[in-house]
Amino acid sequence: MEKFIDREQELDTLQSEYERDGASLVILYGRRRVGKTTLISEFIQDKKALFFLASEESESQNRTEFKNKTADFIDSDLLRNASVSNWDTIFKAIVDTAFESKPIIVMDEFQYIGKSNPAFPSIFQRIWEELRKR
Ligand SMILES: Nc1ncnc2c1ncn2[C@@H]1O[C@H](COP(=O)(O)OP(=O)(O)OP(=O)(O)O)[C@@H](O)[C@H]1O
Ligand SMILES: [Mg+2]
Repeated sequence: MEKFIDREQELDTLQSEYERDGASLVILYGRRRVGKTTLISEFIQDKKALFFLASEESESQNRTEFKNKTADFIDSDLLRNASVSNWDTIFKAIVDTAFESKPIIVMDEFQYIGKSNPAFPSIFQRIWEELRKR
């Protein structure tokens, strides 16, 4: 990209959400090519962040990819070498990690996972409700 333009209001919104006490779930949506990925990439540049790009592959391929990214993110050989059959295990591993600064987890193209498993949004909702307090 040449130069990141504008989006000051959007960056401020993300920043104030980031500075709140506790966990936040932010859903960023909009037309194709409107600048969602660019905005979030700019925002996480100077932060501790895991950027995961979902694909149109199967749910289990996405889960394995997310698990491996997470293992790198939290530097866990245990998670890297584990085979996980559910999303809960991965999110729990993140929540159980001590971070020096607030971590950000980005799931870009989230809808692809819901396409391969229509139950995924509700699984994610349940995980969020269970883990947000931690
Ligand atoms: N703030 C910006 N300043 C300059 N260029 C931008 C900005 N936001 C996006 N662009 C450019 O616009 C194009 C589309 O941006 P981006 O891929 O972030 O959109 P998107 O909303 O994530 O698209 P998609 O829905 O296809 O994933 C890219 O070429 C990107 O470099
Ligand atoms: Mg995008």
